[in-house]
Amino acid sequence: MTRNDASTKIIRLDERKAVSSEPVARGRRMGKTPKIIAITSGKGGVGKTNIVANLGFTLRRFGKKVLIFDADLGLGNLDVLLGLTPQYNLSHVIRGEKHLSEVIVTGPGGLKILPAASGIQDLTSLTKQERYLVFSQLDEFLHEFDIMLIDTAAGISSNVLYFNINSDEILIVATPEPTSITDAYAMMKVLSVKYSTDHFKLVVNAAASVQEADDVFRQLNLVADRFLNISMEYYGCILLDENIRKGVRQQRAVTEMAPLAVASRNFVALARKIASTPAPERRSGTTHWSMTEMPR
Ligand SMILES: Nc1ncnc2c1ncn2[C@@H]1O[C@H](COP(=O)(O)OP(=O)(O)OP(=O)(O)O)[C@@H](O)[C@H]1O
Ligand SMILES: [Mg+2]
Repeated sequence: MTRNDASTKIIRLDERKAVSSEPVARGRRMGKTPKIIAITSGKGGVGKTNIVANLGFTLRRFGKKVLIFDADLGLGNLDVLLGLTPQYNLSHVIRGEKHLSEVIVTGPGGLKILPAASGIQDLTSLTKQERYLVFSQLDEFLHEFDIMLIDTAAGISSNVLYFNINSDEILIVATPEPTSITDAYAMMKVLSVKYSTDHFKLVVNAAASVQEADDVFRQLNLVADRFLNISMEYYGCILLDENIRKGVRQQRAVTEMAPLAVASRNFVALARKIASTPAPERRSGTTHWSMTEMPR
């Protein structure tokens, strides 16, 4: 299927309330695409999935149309975190049984989620044609959203790098633990050296105080400034908050469960920053995912 074929096909999502019912072709003509933000860290367990879920929920409350791509393909658990049980996933798309838009589920507040794929560990296990199928289908309805958040897996696999290099912004998550700081640095290093990524945003998670979070930024910025050709922007912090764990156990975003909790207020401040920066203009109104080779 060519890009032109794809653009003339009118695809509608299952749940239409949170998305526009305008035909696809119109959005593409206008060149509208969402801001694509990858949330990544290098080290696992630093809070990426919680950040994605809570930013998504808060951005929805601000009236933004948000799509979350659970790109932790083999082990994704965003659906579990939000108490959802998706019926379909990417594997149904690959087998040609479903269109990607039919796989999307609706979360709290009208948040749209593309669940991880059971049976597909990462994109490298797909053929070029299969990858093209997934991302050209994504391009068909992406214009209906204002923001797409990508929850990447831990590590610096080619799968994780692929999602990062295809995003408009990379949000690095680090905690005050030295292992998290070194892994965040390693992630920025590989993206800058191999793919010339030169700008990163940092969110410090699970800090005991604002001061401790500031210190993490200072440390990372110092080494990045000295050894890498990049700029780092401090985007904010999420403090250590027991309410986050409580939310995880209840399978609810803390911003929904306890909107006045410290962490929830941190998420609101962060979401406000994201909402206030416009999406980049793309000439064709589409991304270039399907054409990008897998990083090696
Ligand atoms: N600010 C915080 N305060 C307290 N607990 C937190 C905070 N952020 C995350 N957690 C806890 O840390 C755990 C890991 O969070 P999460 O699953 O979001 O990390 P992750 O980076 O997505 O992990 P993985 O790399 O395995 O995908 C969760 O159980 C969550 O409750
Ligand atoms: Mg995760």
